Amino acid sequence: MKIIKNPLQIQKISIELMKKNKSIGLVPTMGALHLGHISLIKKSVSQNDITVVSIYVNPIQFGPNEDYKRYPRPIKDDIEICKKNGVDYLFLPTNETLYDNDFSTYVTVDKLSNMMCGVTRPIHFRGVATIVSKLFNMILPDRAYFGLKDYQQYTVIKQMVKDLNFKIKVIGCPIVREKNGLAMSSRNTYLSQEAKENASNIHKILVNAKKSFNSGKNIFSVIKEAGILLSKIENSEVDYIEARDSNTLQPVQTTSKKVVIAVAVKVQNIRLIDNILC
Ligand code: PAJ
Repeated sequence: MKIIKNPLQIQKISIELMKKNKSIGLVPTMGALHLGHISLIKKSVSQNDITVVSIYVNPIQFGPNEDYKRYPRPIKDDIEICKKNGVDYLFLPTNETLYDNDFSTYVTVDKLSNMMCGVTRPIHFRGVATIVSKLFNMILPDRAYFGLKDYQQYTVIKQMVKDLNFKIKVIGCPIVREKNGLAMSSRNTYLSQEAKENASNIHKILVNAKKSFNSGKNIFSVIKEAGILLSKIENSEVDYIEARDSNTLQPVQTTSKKVVIAVAVKVQNIRLIDNILC
């Protein structure tokens, strides 16, 4: 596995690979890799000649009072994980090489960025769409892998790829969970054991909500009841619970065929997201 830090160098490598007709899979991450990330890496390795993983804690997707500084950065462990799982290139850019002092171009996916997580994180998806476009232009992948855990992010990226004519297939990968149902996340390391147990109720509540909805209960009462249960989790504060059309993320209509129920809940003051496709 080669570690590359310089954007021009990774771009040069990608162009050479393209000339040799090698397919490239990209897995963009912020590191603190866990089994969720590893599932994306494995999928890319199985579907492409070359897999590139990027690890970069992207400052422009964090709000001023968020955890940019505190975000876990266990780079040695991450390098080992990438090596073990068949990654060909690990891209580790720095702030200096990605954001010049005069940086001033952002990608905004209008329709999808201000709802749900965007309400409390107004600059978040602009930051995500911008860094992902930069990575796409540097790495020129054929396929890019995103977890369905960040369902809104996945939808934003798909829209961006369509709108900006990136010739890239966006592959959504299923949510990987702890045994107790808690969705794996780099931010789970902030939680105490007790908080992790409490947080595992989020998934249980979503599973029951899906059951009720699928057995014919009205989606709005399903959401209301699930919201009440979420707020009863010890030390929790519900940011939102929403039922949306899983393709468009528009509010559910009675005609919506596919529904995603998405939540953001703070447990022990750590903001966790999860969702379930019904
Ligand atoms: P990060 O949170 O590190 O996640 C990287 C990728 O791993 C995302 O596509 C995310 O959805 C996926 N992922 C995380 N936890 C998962 C789980 N439990 N199961 C399945 N997939 C999971 O998301 C980001 O980084 C950043 O916003 C990024 C796209 C890299 C842009 O900076």
